Amino acid sequence: MSRWRERVIAPFRHPRRADAPRAALEIRDRKPNGSLLGSAIPALRFAAAGMTMWLATLAGAQADASGKRFNIGREAMAEEIAGWDIDVRPDGRGLPVGKGTVKEGESLYIERCAACHGEFGESAGRWPILAGGEGTLASHDPVKSIGSYWPYASTVLDYIRRAMPFGNAQSLTNDELYAVTAYVLYLNDAIKDEAFELSDKNFLSVKLPNEANFFDDDRETSEKHFWTKEPCMANCAAGEARIVGRARALDVTPEEGKAPKVE
Ligand code: HEC
Repeated sequence: MSRWRERVIAPFRHPRRADAPRAALEIRDRKPNGSLLGSAIPALRFAAAGMTMWLATLAGAQADASGKRFNIGREAMAEEIAGWDIDVRPDGRGLPVGKGTVKEGESLYIERCAACHGEFGESAGRWPILAGGEGTLASHDPVKSIGSYWPYASTVLDYIRRAMPFGNAQSLTNDELYAVTAYVLYLNDAIKDEAFELSDKNFLSVKLPNEANFFDDDRETSEKHFWTKEPCMANCAAGEARIVGRARALDVTPEEGKAPKVE
């Protein structure tokens, strides 16, 4: 599970990240007597525990916390687990053995990726862009690409490995995977030299520019004061409450006649 939060305060916060789902979880955790039993953090842990239990079931340890066995399913075979266990982490754990150059990746990319993502990662039609958008995160119209937004090169390799090419996922050999990843990183200026050969040995040398703006989820400590059994439900802000922003200022609700022109 991703433990990153954004530090960049963009005018549009992505609804899928941090705050929105947390609010929903808080409401679900409220007991009828009004006490806030769990917090977002335990709730997230609960979700993680659910996932672990599922994996444990997959691995054949069919027992709940009290040690009771469910006697369903069978032990997963090592081959089955290996098929799922393909994540690659920022510290290099999980990298498959392989290598490929930017140059090799370019022809592969043109053949198997460009039809959707554009020859230079600029996107063809409405498929996702893979490059561009540097310096736009804090702007009115942030463009989140690998180069402008993603924290780690490992995320790129991991994603391509498990999901691309769309419709024919996991069809790339490990060497093709390194080559095409190298090319995508080259399109994002994270690799500058076409002759560069990316491999499991030198993978950690490639850095993405936005890495420093991601940090481990620190809500457990930074928001600890919220997670109490008797949360404040009225007049909680110290001093006077002030309105600090309005949706209209972000053009979320354009005024009649003043809406920006749409091409
Ligand atoms: C048939 C069209 C298609 C082809 C071909 C294709 N992709 Fe994709 N790609 C997609 C779609 C659709 C998504 C978004 C999927 C989603 O969000 O679930 C995506 C997402 C991605 C992303 C993540 C982008 C982001 O910012 O979230 C990467 C990286 C990527 N593709 C790389 C590749 C590579 C490398 C290849 C060639 C080996 C490739 N894709 C081939 C359609 C395609």
